[in-house]
Amino acid sequence: MSLFSPARHAASGVADPADSPHFWSDGDAGITFTGVGRSFGAHDVIAGVDLTVAPGEVIAILGPSGCGKSTLLRLAAGLDAPTGGSLVIGDAPVRAWDPRCAVAFQEPRLLPWRTLRENVALGLPRTGRRRTAAQDARIDELLELVGLSGFAGHRPRAVSGGMAQRTSLARALARDPHVLLLDEPFGALDALTRLKMQDLLLSVHAASPATILLVTHDVDEALQLADRIVLLGPDDDGAGAPGPARSGAAPAGVRSVHTVPGARPRHRGSADLARMRVDLFTALGVDAH
Ligand SMILES: Nc1ncnc2c1ncn2[C@@H]1O[C@H](COP(=O)(O)OP(=O)(O)O)[C@@H](O)[C@H]1O
Ligand SMILES: [Mg+2]
Repeated sequence: MSLFSPARHAASGVADPADSPHFWSDGDAGITFTGVGRSFGAHDVIAGVDLTVAPGEVIAILGPSGCGKSTLLRLAAGLDAPTGGSLVIGDAPVRAWDPRCAVAFQEPRLLPWRTLRENVALGLPRTGRRRTAAQDARIDELLELVGLSGFAGHRPRAVSGGMAQRTSLARALARDPHVLLLDEPFGALDALTRLKMQDLLLSVHAASPATILLVTHDVDEALQLADRIVLLGPDDDGAGAPGPARSGAAPAGVRSVHTVPGARPRHRGSADLARMRVDLFTALGVDAH
């Protein structure tokens, strides 16, 4: 059952999300990039990006530093506009900051003077009205989902980095996003916390399958979480492998797309994943042996 299904909402006292204009529903949250490019002055950062993401699909984006991964995510969120091509979510073009999207970054970006609860509340859709009892119940539900019910009244400086990042994830979920855009969301966490956050993201997605674009540096994270892995990078070495991004280098585009075998949660030690890991490292220009 969906976390936000009417039955669950009736039981929890939270309003039926179908009443919310921002509520996602299956089938309307696919993303289509068609020939998308972004230049800053003479610097063509990305060019000719074609990618169709199915509703509810999890796409991991891997690529060298500075190749344009964050730029691509910002375009998808409508935080920036492409200088070429077009970008559509569902059947409506992305024109400006898009209320169907929510974004989480490497740093939790919480307001230090607000409690975790009030930080999560910042993610609620803006209505200009006082918060309703249903919205309060919703925040409680999200805090419980990310395992922070007992810390709702704490301020960010009083909790660990992993807890702050869970708060950031709950804030992103508070708007019932159709599309969740995650820019190296676990990149600053220690290895064990990172694994726990990956599991949390999987359970969040199983309960409420938004379409997810996840930028990560971590090949294993991509293998664990994604339906497909997209390698982004410049095609400037003639061999198809993305080289290091440089100013003046060829613009980045989609170099290859890899469908990850097996249903989630995946066994981290599986032979299929091991083979794909070697393929990905090779494609990234790293010796896997
Ligand atoms: N607002 C901007 N103005 C000028 N250049 C930018 C701007 N945003 C990003 N860039 C450039 O675009 C390139 C890609 O940046 P980014 O998308 O942050 O890379 P990544 O996330 O893959 O590390 C970099 O060379 C960066 O300097
Ligand atoms: Mg980045």
